[in-house]
Formats: sequence, structure tokens, C-alpha cells
Amino acid sequence: MKNTILIGSLIVGACAALWVTPLAAADSPREHLSLDANWTFHLGDDWPDALHLENSGTGGGPASEKFSDAYWRVVNLPHDWAVELPFDWAADGSHGFKTLGGKYPTNSIGWYRRAFELPKEDEGMRIWLTFDGVFRDATVWVNGWCVSHHEGGYYPFREDITDVVHFGGENTIAVLVNATKVEGWFYEGAGIYRHVWLDKTAPVAIAPDGIFVESEFKKNIPQGSPEIAVEVRLLNAATNATKAAVNCEIISPDGKSLKQISGSEELKRKSQGAVKLESKLSSPVLWSPELPKLYRLITTVSVDGKVVDQKETSFGIRTVGFDATNGFLLNGKHYELYGTCNHQDHAGVGAAIPDALQEFRVKKLKEFGCNAIRTSHNPPTPELLDACDRLGVLVMDESRLMGSDSENMNKWDDQIRRDRNHPSVAIWCIANEQFAVQDTPEAANVARSMQDYVKRLDPTRPVTYAAPEDNVFRGINSVIEVRGWNYHYGPQMDQYHAEHLNQPNVGTEQASVVGTRGIYTNDQPRGYVAAYDVVWPGWTTTAESWWSFFATRPWLSGAFVWTGFDYRGEPTPYWWPCINSHFGILDTCGFPKDVFYYYQSWWTTNTVLHLLPHWNWPGWEGQEILVEAFSNCKQVELFLNSMSLGKQAMKPNSKLSWQVTYAPGTLSAKGFDAAGNVVAETKVETTGDATQIQLTPDRKAINADGEDVAVFTVSALDAQGRAVPVAQNKINFSIEGAGEILGVGNGDPSCHEPDMFVPNVPERSVALNDWRWQLAKIPKNSSGLPEYANDFDDSAWNNLNAKTSGGELAIRTPDTTAIYRAHFTLTEADLNGAGAQVCFGGCDDEGWYFVNGQFVGESHDWQAQPIFDIKKFLHAGDNVVAVGVNNAVGSGGLNPNVTVKIIGNAGVPPWSRSLFNGLAQVIVQSTRDAGEIKLTATAAGLTPVTAVVQTQPCALRPPVR
Ligand code: GAL
Repeated sequence: MKNTILIGSLIVGACAALWVTPLAAADSPREHLSLDANWTFHLGDDWPDALHLENSGTGGGPASEKFSDAYWRVVNLPHDWAVELPFDWAADGSHGFKTLGGKYPTNSIGWYRRAFELPKEDEGMRIWLTFDGVFRDATVWVNGWCVSHHEGGYYPFREDITDVVHFGGENTIAVLVNATKVEGWFYEGAGIYRHVWLDKTAPVAIAPDGIFVESEFKKNIPQGSPEIAVEVRLLNAATNATKAAVNCEIISPDGKSLKQISGSEELKRKSQGAVKLESKLSSPVLWSPELPKLYRLITTVSVDGKVVDQKETSFGIRTVGFDATNGFLLNGKHYELYGTCNHQDHAGVGAAIPDALQEFRVKKLKEFGCNAIRTSHNPPTPELLDACDRLGVLVMDESRLMGSDSENMNKWDDQIRRDRNHPSVAIWCIANEQFAVQDTPEAANVARSMQDYVKRLDPTRPVTYAAPEDNVFRGINSVIEVRGWNYHYGPQMDQYHAEHLNQPNVGTEQASVVGTRGIYTNDQPRGYVAAYDVVWPGWTTTAESWWSFFATRPWLSGAFVWTGFDYRGEPTPYWWPCINSHFGILDTCGFPKDVFYYYQSWWTTNTVLHLLPHWNWPGWEGQEILVEAFSNCKQVELFLNSMSLGKQAMKPNSKLSWQVTYAPGTLSAKGFDAAGNVVAETKVETTGDATQIQLTPDRKAINADGEDVAVFTVSALDAQGRAVPVAQNKINFSIEGAGEILGVGNGDPSCHEPDMFVPNVPERSVALNDWRWQLAKIPKNSSGLPEYANDFDDSAWNNLNAKTSGGELAIRTPDTTAIYRAHFTLTEADLNGAGAQVCFGGCDDEGWYFVNGQFVGESHDWQAQPIFDIKKFLHAGDNVVAVGVNNAVGSGGLNPNVTVKIIGNAGVPPWSRSLFNGLAQVIVQSTRDAGEIKLTATAAGLTPVTAVVQTQPCALRPPVR
């Protein structure tokens, strides 16, 4: 345990049900502010020496407060720069062939900067900086002070930065992100791909992730009144001891105040403590995927009668358990897990998934009956858990690595504390497929330590490990509470179960069937595989096989299919040009593949009837085509152009097939119930060529908050208005109004078109290598001298050449001043761009900088590498940079590595994407303007279309200025 917690006195008081009168946010000094907007971003390792280990508070290059990022690109978080990079066959295919990693050093380091203001009145508050997730290594400076170095792409990290901020002034955060190292064998992104927050709290405050609300029924059977246990951890940053009073108000899902419970705790100076409260709650509404009812807990902390903090925690009341005979139990009853494993990756945006897109993805999964997500193979983004809580999806919450060392256990601690209030989280998973060690006693020890730790922080949730073994009861499997099964379905499972009758089981990973949306023959050169549920890698099996086995064995608890969505990387079974996996039931955009209807048939109570393939096969006339029906009807009859091709009975958990001699027209089917009534009909038709584009947003109105997104489906219709399933037209997009395009995709696993069209800013660098210098008296301020002027004759001065000086420090004596000069030539065209900067390699110890005789800035730190904006001082022809230098101690002088950067005008390439088998997707994000977004799609030979989405005023997430 990281912190020693003092358990506070327990005073429980209960009030009758009241309508909520929550304290206005203004009553609590806590501010939880979004830091997502308006970062500047630079790709490339141009400042390898920015981290200064020899002195404090002196970050160099962009880490310095004084650095100018005036011409860096402005980005909003979440941001993933990997998705912006091109593909290369020589790059790491398991990560999606993006030009990232050791072979591409300049693409693997990124810098982010952001300024923010803190008012003078905040003095006395604690200021916290939280990163929800950065891929991968992050070094963070605040006002030049290095405040954090964090490794690990999936864990949050936070710092109390109060000591180094400027109250009543501007502050600068600089983040160096190094995405060279990978953690997985799948696309992982690069950059600050989750939210960043600035929290302001009073000195006495609720600790970060410091609230745990737990509901417990006797014997884990949801009858009667559960015990609600609340733990509130408190921090006292003040130098005096104090007594903190804690009040927790429970609000019902329909907004009624049900109960108040309170307690208090004596906090020593600069210490931590905790208050534990308990109360019974009668007639609770249970949370379940079918009825995801959420309670709220309002925790208020007061000192001397004054509110010092308040936080709202949403929670659910439900029981979970795994039983060796009855499998997974939700609220005391067997509940089959219709799960999918998913990576955090979506078409267009990569790992930087906006909250609204998390919700979109969860809804897509629910459409085919998925009721559980495994966050393979890492801790999730918090907003994914929020969406699962709200929409009703269970979660297997997975750690990245196993380890009982302090670093790993601290991360495990952070993950559990952050996620344990979410009712959706049903089970923890300590790791996936640790082939090298899983059978060893050491791995068993580590697994036991991680499992025991869960029991300390979260006694009600079980723990599993995603084991890739068959009937093996060694190492981790011998100690883990719930035996996880990655593949190996079949008799070995029955045998294992028979031999270990007390150990519950769960299918942690099954299927891994591959299929490309809309493709019906394997095509290795293009990297496509047929979507009939017939192609699977050796270690896996079809949807029909694994599910038929699990469906009849409730003790297996159900399972998690590999995967819900396709993801970048792990192209299987073919490599380049394929750059995506296609294990998904949905493609990378969330468009359903045919197998979607297999699962929908057997995982939902909807009546399902789906035919495959499409019926556009010119040139195949007279040849046989395999036709399948995914359905849960008792019988299905197939027709071609109204001629019956036979009625077949459907076996449970199965599918039907026919060999059909192709003729264009209409392939149709009728589905019958047990009594022989027609309960479903469907058809696929041979369409004409595409003549028009269709744009369909997922929602007609979104929030005008700069965060919400509308997801547009792009399709092509023939002259009769039918969707053309084989259309591959290139579509161009333009946008007007209150939105911006975030990314585009089409679900094609071999598409190398860009997902993002980022502004391209041309830049020209002029190295100033030839310098003249001379010892001279200088004013040590911004006053000019004739020696700084353009026309001064320096021909008799000493020479200093950047290439040959070897870093020689020209001024040998302390307390000595000198002037340095260099010429450079510019054209008229150079002056027509966005700007110009002069970038210095360093000045030992102080410098006053002039361009064409005019003062541009000064530096007083020998480690600083100042940059100045100089466009307004330049002219076409000969220009002069002059620097007055003061060497204070030892030897010194100007580092002659100086560059003038000429920055051109940003060009924004037009957005486009080809349809893949009739579909593409455009993800559009709102601005903060209420109004409308108009997205227009055009293509050669097709009638264009404009779709409109309204952006409506809404409460904004409070941002940092
Ligand atoms: C599993 C592994 C997954 C993925 C899958 C592909 O063994 O856990 O991450 O690689 O194979 O079939």
C-alpha cells in the first residue's frame, strides 16, 4: 500500500428521503478543469538536450518557459500523431506499418506545449496536473521545472505542481513524448491520446481517486438492504493540524436524496487520513446491462463549518460473482457473458478516441448483443468505463503487465482505485498470455500478490488471467480465482472442469476468425479474406464452432470474442499490403461484417435474418456462389428471382448455406417460426452503378462544446436509390460551419490512404555558420549600438565558424563582453510566408539579440537555447544578426550554431477517402459555436450531397484559460 491510511471515527446519520439540493459548485473551492484545448505540437527530436539533469528548473528548448512555439501546429487533445504518419512496408507490421519506432527516430519523438493562466486569488490552493494517458514515455516540465517522468502508455499520472506555478501570471507546460518503445503487438498510437486535467483544491481536500463506494449484500445475494460502505481519503497539505468533517449524500437514479451519512477525521499537519462510513439502503434499484441505473454519491468535506471540497461519484448497486458450476452471476443469477475484446483504436483517429466516439463504439457493440468488453490488453480510458456504466455493458478491466515489484504494484493500485467505483467493471484481469513464465512458481507468486492486492482494495470483484493453455493447472492457473481460457475450446475444457470442480471459468478470448467486410473470396495479393466465417488462424476457430461449444456450458460463463472491432496492426493471415487486423465483428469504422448477424442471431432476442454475399457478380453468370443465411428463425427458405431454392431447418447456434447458380436479380429469403409463420424477410439485389453519394450522420444534433462528434456514413446509391455494395469511388469532403473533420476511414484493411489531412507548413532553414566577433563594451540592455547595425564593417573582426569551432568558447576571461555578427540573405518569397525565427544554440552567460540593428530579445541562462520571432525586422537581400554577449564567469561566448527558419504558409490538403465496398466514414467534431455543420461530399461522376448536423448550446466542461 502506498499510503498509510488512518481510519477516522464513524458517525453515521441518516435523513429521510429529500429532493436533492446539491451544493452549488461555487460552494466548493475545487475546480476540475479541462486542459485539452489549444496545445501546440512539434514532431521531431530537435532538442535532445532539453532535459537538464545538472540544474533544477532549467529545462532547455521547448521545456523552457521562454521558448517560442509561435509556429507550431495547434492541436486539441486527445491527439495521436501515429495515425497521421504514412505507411511503409519496412515498418513494424504488428503496429500497423506506421513509420514509427526505432527505425524512424524523427517520427517517434513529439513535443507538446500549452500555456495557462492562474489568477492571483488562487494562491493558497493546491494545483494538480493529471494526464489520463500518454503513449508512451512522457517527460513533463512546468515553467521549466521537470515535474514528472512517466513510462507506460496506458496508466494515468498526476503531480501536485503548486510549488512551481506562477499565481497571477502565465504558466507553461511542456511535454516531451517518446513513442519509440512499444508495449503491445498491436497499434498503440503516439502522443497525449487521453485527457489532461488541471485540478485546483484547497489544502484540505479529497485525495485523487480517494472515494470508494461499495455496496454489499449478505452472502453476495441481492436481497434485502445492502450495506453501503464509503471510504473517503483526505489530504492535508496545510502546516497546521485540522479536523475534517465528511458528509456523503446518496442520490437515487431518479434524482431523490436518499440518505446522508457523515463522519470526521483529525488530520495532522501535512498528512493523509481516511473516513469510513457505512449505512444500509433499503429497496435498491439494481444495476444491470438491461437496466443500467446509476446512483450518485455527493461527498462534501468541511473544516470549521466551511466547505473545502466536494466531489460527485457515480456508482451502481449490483452483485457479481463467478461460480464453478453456474458460471458468471450477476445479481445472483447466471448471466451469460456475450463479450468482445477490444483495443483502443478507431478509423480516422487512432488511439485518440473522443468521449462521444467511445459511446458510439459501445452502442455499436450492443447492436449485436455484446454485453461485456475486455479492455485488452491494458487499463481502459476512464470515459470508456463511463459509457459502459451508462449504456449497460460489463467490463473485464485488464492490466498491461504482471509484476509484483513496486512500480507495477503502484500502477495496479492506481488502476484499481481509479476504476473500482464503476458498476460496469465486473472482473479484474492481471495479464494476457505470459507464455514464457505462466507455468512457473514465480509467476504463480506474482499472480497471487496481484490477486491478494485486489482483495484489499476491492473485495467484491473476482480476478482472472487470460491463459493461452489447455488442461494445465500449473503456475498462474493453479492460484488464479477464475480460470481464463484463451482459445483451446473442446474436450480439454471439460476435462479441466471435471478435475477442478471448485474453480470457476471464463472464456477470456475466443474466435479470432478473420473476415474482410464485403469480401467473399480470399485475395492474398490485396490482403483480403472471405467473410463467410471460414478463415481462422491455426490457434483459433470459427464463430460457429466456439460459440456452439460455449452455449451449452453455462459453467464457462460465456466469453470474449477476439475482437469486437478491427484494429490497426496484427494483419492476419496476410501481411503487407494489409495493415489492419480483421478479426473484428465490426470493421475499424464500426460497419458490421456478415458475422455480426451470426452473433446477433444467438446473442439477442431480435428476430434476425441476414443473407450473404451481396448480389453484384457481373461475369459470374452460370457459376455457383455460396450463399449463407445467419438467422435465428426455425426455418429459412431461399429464393432467386422468386424461384424457391429450398427451405432448411436451422440448428441452434448454427447457420445455413446453399450453392446458388448466379443470375443477376433478387436473392431473397423468408424466415419461419416453429409454427411455420413467416416472421422475417430479407433480400439482396443486383444494383446498377453508383450515381449519387449519400451522407448519413449518426445523430441530427450534437453539442456545441468542441468535443462532441457526429459520425457520418458515406455510401453510394444507384439510380434507384439502392446502396451499391461494391462501390469504390473516391469521395472528396469539405466542411462549413460549426465543425471540423477529425478523421476519415473506410474499414479497408489494406487501404494506405491518409486517415487525417493535417496542415502542411513549408519550412526553410538557413544555417548561420560564418561569424565575426570582437571584445567590446555593450550596454547590457536593449539599447542599440552601431556594431549591431546592418551596414557596420566587421571585416577586421575575428572569424568564428560554426563547423570548425568545435564548440570553442571564444571569450576566455570572466566579466567580459563581446559582440558577434553574422549575415544572411533572403528573397522576396521568403518574406511572404507566415513567419521567421532565429534559433540560438546557447549563449554563455547572457545575450542581447538584434536583427538589422533592432532589439529582438535577451537571455540570461547559459543553458537556454533562445528562439525569437524576427519576421518584422527582415528585408529582402542582406540581413544581419548581432548579439551582445556578457561572459560572467569562466570562459563563455555565443554558441555559433544558429539557424534562421523561414516559415511558409500552411496548406491544408483537401479531405478525401475512397469507399470500400460501398462505405466510408467521416468523423466530425463540433466547435463551440451553436449553429450547424454542413458536410459536403463530391466525387467524379456522382451527384454530390450535403448533410447538415445542428450544434446545440450545452453546458461546457470548464476549461483552463
Ligand atoms: C491472442 C492474443 C491477442 C491477439 C490474438 C490474435 O493470442 O491474446 O492479443 O494477438 O491472439 O488471434
